[in-house]
Amino acid sequence: MRAQIIGTGSYVPETVLTNADIAKRIDTTDHWIVERTGVRERRIAAKDEATSDLAYKAALQALESAEVLPKDIDLILVATATPDMFFPSTACIVQDKLKAVNAAAFDLSAACSGFLYALSVGEQYIRSGTYRKVLVIGAEVMSRLTDWTDRRTCILFGDAAGAVLLSAAHPHDGILSIHLHSDGSLWDLICVPGGGTAIPPSEKVLMEHLNTIKMKGNETFKVAVRSLGEVALEALQANGLHPSDVDHLIPHQANLRIIHAVLTRLHMSKGKVVVNLDKYGNTSAASIPLALDEAVRDGRIKKKDLLLFLAFGGGLTWASALVRW
Ligand code: COA
Repeated sequence: MRAQIIGTGSYVPETVLTNADIAKRIDTTDHWIVERTGVRERRIAAKDEATSDLAYKAALQALESAEVLPKDIDLILVATATPDMFFPSTACIVQDKLKAVNAAAFDLSAACSGFLYALSVGEQYIRSGTYRKVLVIGAEVMSRLTDWTDRRTCILFGDAAGAVLLSAAHPHDGILSIHLHSDGSLWDLICVPGGGTAIPPSEKVLMEHLNTIKMKGNETFKVAVRSLGEVALEALQANGLHPSDVDHLIPHQANLRIIHAVLTRLHMSKGKVVVNLDKYGNTSAASIPLALDEAVRDGRIKKKDLLLFLAFGGGLTWASALVRW
């Protein structure tokens, strides 16, 4: 038995923050940001919106598109680096909002690779026959972890949520494989050092902005290009497929230059890649399901198409998934 995505959904907050808006606050320009990253604008959650609110709205859409009721969900997985609270899990809060009374619920943390990590967990529960309907959500309010005085990072991120509903599939369709990797020795390339148990909240943490994203951009960039290329080929080889067999590449939306470098490595044309980072920036665990939902709703993705998902993020973590739609 394989797991198949039978519904997709997404949600982005209303407020749009453009590059020009950021250039009013710090020393940067729209030209620099577009040239170095591809991002033109991003969404920012309202003051009273938490990650679970975004996740809930994306989940509702996924359930609607799959025509499945909340009471029929067996498991809710939320991939997030920006949970509502340390505990309970954001997944439990989403469960309450959905009234998915029969579901188990937990969060999973793998930063920007979180969605594919969560998808792999959901897939295993379906494959084993333990659960029939699994809701997998990637949701982030990155703006709350952003240092708005740091021009190297504040231009990159945005807030969003994406969701998919998994169900059992015909053995030839659905999720063909998922490959996950981590290299914990590179944890400090991108992290939020303060505010947890290592460096608990204090005046110093706030003064030095240690509760916000710290990133070694150049090094992260290089590892991202290498590992995304490798994990893409690993997925294709494991299934006896070639890059030319892929109909749609749906990569984590971190930086357009990273995406183009990966396309070059795979000898794939730009026409095959789903890109929406110009509108939303890097939405971490939300980026892949958000891009997927957009491409499903605008009719780009057709039945039997071969989809290759690629993710990369803090940890470091990286992953791929091949899906026959
Ligand atoms: N506006 C204008 N100038 C900026 C700037 C900004 N927003 N941010 C940095 N600069 C400047 C730097 O200060 C530096 O100037 P200097 O040489 O005088 O010191 C110069 O631009 C080059 O900085 P650098 O950090 O080397 O730029 P870069 O080409 O590596 O681009 C990133 C920076 C962050 C866009 C790029 O490294 C990147 O995207 N890395 C990957 C990050 C990522 O994807 N992380 C998430 C992974 S999930």
